[in-house]
Amino acid sequence: MTGRLEGKVAIVTGAAMGLGAAIATLFAEEGATVLLTDVAEEAGRATAARLARPGLFLRHDVSSPEDWDMVGRAAVEQFGRIDIVMNNAAILIPGSIEDADVADWRRVQAVNADGVFLGCRMAVRAMKRSGGGSIVNIASVGSHSGEAYAAAYCASKGAVRSLTKSVAVHCQNQGYGIRCNSIHPGTIDTPMVRNLREGLGLPPESPVAGDPRQFAYAALYLASDEALLVNGAELLVDSARTVTPPAPRAS
Ligand SMILES: NC(=O)c1ccc[n+]([C@@H]2O[C@H](COP(=O)([O-])OP(=O)(O)OC[C@H]3O[C@@H](n4cnc5c(N)ncnc54)[C@H](O)[C@@H]3O)[C@@H](O)[C@H]2O)c1
Repeated sequence: MTGRLEGKVAIVTGAAMGLGAAIATLFAEEGATVLLTDVAEEAGRATAARLARPGLFLRHDVSSPEDWDMVGRAAVEQFGRIDIVMNNAAILIPGSIEDADVADWRRVQAVNADGVFLGCRMAVRAMKRSGGGSIVNIASVGSHSGEAYAAAYCASKGAVRSLTKSVAVHCQNQGYGIRCNSIHPGTIDTPMVRNLREGLGLPPESPVAGDPRQFAYAALYLASDEALLVNGAELLVDSARTVTPPAPRAS
C-alpha cells in the first residue's frame, strides 16, 4: 500500500542515520513531506537528498529550546502545518550507576529527555492550531527492564515513556485531536547499536538485530490516521525480548 501519509507534513529528528533515516525514507515513500533534523549535517543532507519526495534538512540540536523554535517556525513557514512529529534523536553514553559521571548523566538527559519534552511542547502548540496530529516518541525496552551498562540512558527512556502518557491524556482532555504514543525498540541494526557493541568488545553485527525498515513500519502506523484511536500507548518492537519466557514444562 502507498500513500498512507499523503498530504501530511512530518518532522523526524535524528534523521541522518539509523532509525530516523529509515523512518524519513518510508514516510516520504508514503506521501509525506518530511523535514529531517539532526546535528550530523552532512549525513542528514545526504539522507534528505535520497528521499522519494524532496525533503528539507535542518541542523537541529534537540536539547536546544531555540533550535526547536527555529524548526517549528521553518516547518509552518515552508509547509503551512505540522501533522507528525517523530521524536527519535537520542544518544547512549555507556556507564553503570557506579561509573557514570554527572556530566554524562546530564548530557544524556538533555538530549533524550529534554529533547523529547521540547519536541512534544512544540508539536502540541503547533498542532492544536491546525486541528490535530500525531506525536511519536522513541523510548526503548531499556525503560522497562533497565540495563546495567547504561543507567543514564535507561532513566532518560523512562522519562520519555511517562512523558508520552502525560502529553496524551492532556491532549485528550483538551480535545485537541493530538495523539502521543511511544515505540520501544529492542535491538535494531543501527550505528548506535554497532558503536555500543564495539565499545563492549563485541562484533558490531548483532545476531538478533532487526531491520530498521521493518521498525519504520511501526512508526508509520502510529503516525498515520490508521491509529486515530491509539493515544498514550506504548508499542514494543522487540521480537518478544521483554516477554517473560514460559516456565519449562514438567516432562
Ligand atoms: N537501535 C536500537 O536497537 C534501539 C534500541 C532502543 C531504542 N532506540 C532508540 O531509537 C532511536 C534511534 O536510535 P538509532 O539506533 O537510530 O541511533 P543512531 O545513533 O544510529 O542515530 C541517532 C541519530 O540521532 C542524532 N543525534 C544525536 N544527538 C542529537 C541531538 N542532540 N540533536 C539532534 N540529533 C541528534 C545522531 O546524529 C544520529 O543521526 C533513539 O531514540 C534510540 O534511543 C534504538
